[in-house]
Amino acid sequence: MVIIKNTGELRQYLAYEGHGKRDICFVPTMGALHAGHGFLVKKAKEKQDALVVCSIFVNPTQFNEKSDFDKYPVSVEADIDLLTNMGCDVLFLPTVEEMYPGGTDKVPSYDFGYLDTILEGAQRPGHFKGVGQVVGRLLEIVKPQYLYLGQKDYQQCMVIKKLLSIISNTGVNIIICDTVREADGLAMSSRNRRLTAPQRITAAAIYQCLVSIQGKHHAARFEVVQKECIELLKDKGFEPEYVALADARDLTLLDNYQPDIPMVALIAARIGDVRLIDNKLL
Ligand code: PAJ
Repeated sequence: MVIIKNTGELRQYLAYEGHGKRDICFVPTMGALHAGHGFLVKKAKEKQDALVVCSIFVNPTQFNEKSDFDKYPVSVEADIDLLTNMGCDVLFLPTVEEMYPGGTDKVPSYDFGYLDTILEGAQRPGHFKGVGQVVGRLLEIVKPQYLYLGQKDYQQCMVIKKLLSIISNTGVNIIICDTVREADGLAMSSRNRRLTAPQRITAAAIYQCLVSIQGKHHAARFEVVQKECIELLKDKGFEPEYVALADARDLTLLDNYQPDIPMVALIAARIGDVRLIDNKLL
């Protein structure tokens, strides 16, 4: 695996190695890699003769809480080992100056409308603006044919789809990969490293709630199940931010289960100072 920190060098390398003939499969990350990220790289590697590029960049513009940015785990050496073992071809490891040469306020930002007003957008003002900025800039640099994203961040996937429709003519295909979970159902996340041992055990309750929302699909009103989940999470010591049901196609929030449409249940909850999110398609 080659490691490149400089934008010009990366462009040159991709032009030479790709010869304009090999597809570029791109996996953007913020590092502190785990098996969920590994799965994205594995999926990218399945594309015949593709050049798999992963980026690690802890993007300051998407953190609405400075403390979350300051505490974001960094483990570059272990990340390099994981990516090498997965057969990743190129690791792009830029600095803030490399990503935002004119300063973070000079990067174009995009309007995601409704998507930025609900759930993560409502709880984390400015977060998706930052995601849009960094992904827009990364796409401009890497120019991939395929972009690999995790369903774990469902709303982010929708925001990035919208970003592609705004930028237009990028020729990028989005591949959304299943969420990789621990044995007890907890979605893998870089933030899990910050959980204490008891919090780590409790954290599985989020997935249990999603399973129960799915299981009661035909048996109860959503508001009843929602209330039960909020109570359960509170009992376990969480501060739930939302337990929501939405149309999986456009994230329109739903008051109740709907027949015949794809739905997604989404949860965000804090335990101690760690904020966790997860979702499940119904
Ligand atoms: P990060 O949280 O590092 O996640 C990078 C990619 O890995 C995202 O597409 C995310 O959805 C996916 N991912 C995370 N946990 C996963 C899991 N358990 N199973 C499957 N995929 C998982 O998301 C970001 O970084 C940033 O916002 C980024 C898009 C890189 C922009 O800065």
